[in-house]
Amino acid sequence: MPNSPFHRSLSVPRELVVELGNRRYPIRIGRGLLADPGWAAMLGTRRRVLLTDATVDRLHGGVVRAALGIDDAAAFIVGPGESAKSIETASQAWSWLAEQRVGRDGVVVALGGGVVGDLAGFVAATWMRGIDFIQLPTTLLAMVDSSVGGKTAINLPAGKNLVGAFHQPIAVEADLATLDTLPSREFAAGLAETLKYGAIVDPPFFEWIEASTGELLARDETALAAAVHASCAHKAAIVARDERETGDRAWLNFGHTFGHAIEAAGGFRDLLHGESVAIGMLLAARLSARLGLAADADAERLGRTLEGLGLPTAVPTSMDPDDLLARMRLDKKSLGGRMRLVLWRGIGRAEVIDGVAEAEILAVLRG
Ligand SMILES: NC(=O)c1ccc[n+]([C@@H]2O[C@H](COP(=O)([O-])OP(=O)(O)OC[C@H]3O[C@@H](n4cnc5c(N)ncnc54)[C@H](O)[C@@H]3O)[C@@H](O)[C@H]2O)c1
Repeated sequence: MPNSPFHRSLSVPRELVVELGNRRYPIRIGRGLLADPGWAAMLGTRRRVLLTDATVDRLHGGVVRAALGIDDAAAFIVGPGESAKSIETASQAWSWLAEQRVGRDGVVVALGGGVVGDLAGFVAATWMRGIDFIQLPTTLLAMVDSSVGGKTAINLPAGKNLVGAFHQPIAVEADLATLDTLPSREFAAGLAETLKYGAIVDPPFFEWIEASTGELLARDETALAAAVHASCAHKAAIVARDERETGDRAWLNFGHTFGHAIEAAGGFRDLLHGESVAIGMLLAARLSARLGLAADADAERLGRTLEGLGLPTAVPTSMDPDDLLARMRLDKKSLGGRMRLVLWRGIGRAEVIDGVAEAEILAVLRG
């Protein structure tokens, strides 16, 4: 087996630790973790409440309630979808925590995708100035990205994730069995964020995903465990270096400035976040080639890999490039018609580039 950091990660146990100065927490990855009451034992006799969405609750809530030893009264259920990341839902959750008399030693257990994780994390961060919470991610996107790193948020009508807090969970338990029920589009959207780590920092991981596309799409357990483990290891390392995104953490936004514009132009309905990021990553790679930073062949290779994973790679024809550029200006400050973007110098070599001319961005958006 080649001796790269990624190949070494294939042979280690599926557990890692996020280290942030004097704070640390475990991430465990495996099938059937939630059914094993071991993970809940760390809470001892502490008061625990569950926050989940109705779809996930129907599919996986019973196992978690049993492990936590709680009944329906200790569960706060939100509607599925992005609309739950609102101030109204957060306010209902705070009132509910008050009714439940959850005190400073209480623990919020977030069971669900990124929406539930972001909302529950934000509610925990703000309840009594911050109580502990655990992430039980049930989408691939949440396992490889949103459950790790401590970004929590709700949306405002003015924009996504505008109100939030950095608040790290005390543990992340990624049970691969929950992915059995995940719809294929949601699954592929998570693969886009997985491939992102290969694209920004890890060429061997990128190559492995290219070679393992069939196994990943078939949700082969060994392949999935390796992919989630490598992604979490990268996210943990980047967050450990730069928790508050003053430097390297920005690399995680590769493809996201384009992606957010596409997601917003579709009214957050037409395309999933990961699908928009897939298109955005390819646009970032094409822009890099156009600016002479990287070879065209790297962009085309990224495009083929994304397509192989069942992801869209073209800007929907219904979208106007000028409108997308205007949305990108809102997402990133544009000074004098120039923008700061995360681009790359080829597979595995992300870089923040300042002063990218809007005319070049527009040319790429126009294809
Ligand atoms: N905090 C971060 O660092 C970070 C990073 C990336 C994304 N995010 C946020 O994550 C959110 C998107 O997360 P998501 O893609 O997981 O979406 P999501 O939480 O809305 O889940 C997608 C859908 O799948 C359903 N679902 C979840 N798990 C399931 C399962 N196992 N089986 C069947 N259905 C299941 C949900 O009910 C929902 O309808 C966005 O709000 C985004 O802003 C946060």
